[in-house]
Amino acid sequence: MNAQQLRQTFLNYFRTHQHALIGSASLIPEHDPSVLFTTAGMHPLVTFLLGEPHPAGRRLANYQKCVRTNDITEVGDVTHLTFFEMLGNWSLGDYWKADSIQFSYVFLTAHLGLDAERLHVTCFVGDTDSPRDNEAVAIWQSLGIPPQRITLLPKADNWWGPAGTTGPCGPDSEIFYDTNPDGPPEETPATNSQRFWEIWNNVFIMYNLDANGNYGTLTQRNIDTGMGLERTLAVLQGVSSPYETDLFVPIIEHIHALAHNPQLFAVRIIADHIRAATAILAEGIEPGNVDQPYVARRLIRRAVRYGREISINGHFLGKLAETTISTLADAYPEFEQQRDHICTALDQEEIRFERTLARGQKMFAKAVETCRRQAGSIIPGEVVFNLYDTYGFPAELTEELAAQHGLIVDMDGFRSAFAAHQERSRQSTGGRFQGGLTDHGHETTQLHTATHLLHEALRRVLGPHVEQRGSNITTERLRFDFSHSDKLNREQITEVEQLVNDTIQQQLPVTWAEMSLGEARQSNAIGLFGERYGERVKVYRIGDFSTEICGGPHVAHTGELGAFRITKESAVGSGVRRIRAVLETTSEIDV
Ligand code: ALA
Repeated sequence: MNAQQLRQTFLNYFRTHQHALIGSASLIPEHDPSVLFTTAGMHPLVTFLLGEPHPAGRRLANYQKCVRTNDITEVGDVTHLTFFEMLGNWSLGDYWKADSIQFSYVFLTAHLGLDAERLHVTCFVGDTDSPRDNEAVAIWQSLGIPPQRITLLPKADNWWGPAGTTGPCGPDSEIFYDTNPDGPPEETPATNSQRFWEIWNNVFIMYNLDANGNYGTLTQRNIDTGMGLERTLAVLQGVSSPYETDLFVPIIEHIHALAHNPQLFAVRIIADHIRAATAILAEGIEPGNVDQPYVARRLIRRAVRYGREISINGHFLGKLAETTISTLADAYPEFEQQRDHICTALDQEEIRFERTLARGQKMFAKAVETCRRQAGSIIPGEVVFNLYDTYGFPAELTEELAAQHGLIVDMDGFRSAFAAHQERSRQSTGGRFQGGLTDHGHETTQLHTATHLLHEALRRVLGPHVEQRGSNITTERLRFDFSHSDKLNREQITEVEQLVNDTIQQQLPVTWAEMSLGEARQSNAIGLFGERYGERVKVYRIGDFSTEICGGPHVAHTGELGAFRITKESAVGSGVRRIRAVLETTSEIDV
């Protein structure tokens, strides 16, 4: 089954179940300025989920083009794509969980022919906002899914929405396909996300999250589902990633034909980015310095740089876009209609960037050299700004290049330089983030990263009620205040230290992505969700260990931290404890 057949099979199935077929909406949300792109099929339907009658009825289905930029640094692995398509069906106050789950199950097994034995599901475990979803569990069991293939998980995993900062949301039940049924039987979707691919999500939309963080009950109970087209296609075609499906093969082959030195990840990143850039430009957008145009620019320039890395000579994005359009035009006629605009915009942007790429890379190499000579690891903000301003290097690109050399960039310094020179671009990423540290020496940066590790370790050892209440860092030590009522005993302190030191030894990479607050919640990020941050936030990840909203900066990987030791644990008021800790260089430990 190819992509177009899968879209049609899906639509036909839901049409026979009385769903009206609606078109894919624009990638640019029409009524929601808080989000740059349509990130899910439900996004254009928010007003109808809130109770407004939909002109086509109470049962709807479609395929929807989506862009998510929060995963941009993970692109290239087997499951993360910047541009992707979601197959969805909706009940607007019509059918409820039993029908929804049954529709999904029957479609996957009877119509797509997936082996029911390889399906695993997750359901919401319950909390103070919403009860444990015994109903969904019972429905899955009645369909023959045994308890060992049903995992109950908290809000971080089994809750969807809102798409922006406020709006419809609810508990969900996710369906996973086991790509390695011979793997260890104790593994579940919660423990191995590479093995179990999430292919479909059934969301039971019955709440509305308001600006104060309260979950109000909606007057109508809605179903919102989303099935990942690319992943499901990979399953159906028996290949090990979406990059090997008919949606990608022509693009990948084209890149191989152009590249003298093709490498898997670079080829995949280019393929992903050309699709996303093409789709954004197909909305009539031109690359630029703010909002959607800035995302287009970042994608294009990142693709050009990876193109250079695998020795593609000359301009290639316009040609590659032609191939990309051919893979998607049957589903999205606007790609064909916008062909000239897309190819011209890509050519021009590529020329603009290429003109300065070589000189910019030279300047970057010099900055790396200077950094090394001074035994430092931070590229100054002025340099980052200069690369941005003179050579058109998006700051994130410089940050990524720096990370490849084991260096970090002073993003706050970049922001100051940026603000001083370009007040007009306040909307762009450069001006968007607040927060961070007052002093950006290497020690404080290390301690800042260690604070993230400590925060997560405390949550794992003491429980998820642990939340940051305060943080103060000097060049010597960190101080961290957090919610917890009892004094920590010796064992707990040792366990926390051990956990932090283990992650340090694993040399986990520290990466970050920009996203909306809603997306940050969605990605399980901990951190302050208050009005301290703007609409767009940075989320830092330390391997798979910690995900936290934060302005940065951080070290490039945990191996840079030395040994972590808690020096003092005390009370600071009722229900709040304080920890002081230091990082000791490994040589100090050795002697
Ligand atoms: N809106 C749900 C999702 O994106 C279906 O997963």
